Amino acid sequence: MKVGVLSGGGDAPGINAVIRAVVRKGIRNYGYEMIGIKDGWRGLVEAAYTPLNLEAISGLLPRGGSILGTSRTNPFKCEGGPQQVLNNVRENSIAAVVVIGGDDTLGVAHKMGEIGLPCVGVPKTIDNDLGLTDYTFGFHTAVHIACEAIDRLHTTAEAHHRVIILEVMGRYTGWIALEAGIAGGADIILIPEEPFEIDEVCKFIEQRLESGKTFSLVVVAEGSKPKGAKKIVYGTGVDEFGHPRLGGVGYYLGKEIERCTGIDTRVVVLGHLQRGGSPTAYDRVLATRYGIAAIDLVYNGQFGQMVALRGNKIVSVPLKDVIGKRKTVDLELYEIAKIFSG
Ligand code: F6P
Repeated sequence: MKVGVLSGGGDAPGINAVIRAVVRKGIRNYGYEMIGIKDGWRGLVEAAYTPLNLEAISGLLPRGGSILGTSRTNPFKCEGGPQQVLNNVRENSIAAVVVIGGDDTLGVAHKMGEIGLPCVGVPKTIDNDLGLTDYTFGFHTAVHIACEAIDRLHTTAEAHHRVIILEVMGRYTGWIALEAGIAGGADIILIPEEPFEIDEVCKFIEQRLESGKTFSLVVVAEGSKPKGAKKIVYGTGVDEFGHPRLGGVGYYLGKEIERCTGIDTRVVVLGHLQRGGSPTAYDRVLATRYGIAAIDLVYNGQFGQMVALRGNKIVSVPLKDVIGKRKTVDLELYEIAKIFSG
């Protein structure tokens, strides 16, 4: 039996560790022929493949990015796309596909499943915004990198008596900002789940100054916005799933804080540094466990399912229950963060 693997959407540290686990168990335990599908769903629209044997997965565990490439291609956005995918799968005798992705990529897997393509899902995104799983792989690495950035920014902010703002990713949720902010001891954490009042942010920084703290560290998630305002975007376009490019809230805050408080302020946008490079040990283990569980789902014919983490156990959940239901931050955790503000 031939089994395909694809990774779609933004990359996340650990994709290659998933591929390694899926392929190794697929070949060694189940005797499958494994095939890599290039650049996410685009590879199934355009029939672009690469063989995945044991040699191809050697040395993959610590490697960032995706050896298969990735894209935000949505076959349902191109004329005849879904049928093209089904034709290509049939012509190449691909019996099932392991789909590594976030909400968009897994949404396509769910829809393709409904029209006859057997798929299983693996939850991938640094944003950690997928429902029914405690964690997506890649998130832990992003938090680790953001925390290190906060540590470094702290020392320079303190030395120069400045406000430094760190803008992190996360799309419409504040998971990275919140966990990295707590871990790094940020003074203010701003998340999309709770729009902010700029006057309150400035007042808070001034109070710190009055109490003798001559610097402040602000962590802001890219999807955060002032109360009553529209989300702040980098450009006007949207991707094939309708998402705008977020970004710019850090600079907005920087200008406002400097204007209101008169304190010298700097802005750092962490950007794709959070997504690139080697996964943490935690993400390597999680990705490996997910990969093994995903190929087991294929072996057991449990299609239309996604592997997930619940507590410390790997379980499977229906893709249809995951799609389109954003997992927002735990507000109890946000309350904990607020205790350390100031
Ligand atoms: O969903 C992952 C993510 O990294 C978001 O945090 C971010 O908004 C987006 O992808 C950026 O994607 P790209 O720059 O690859 O289009």
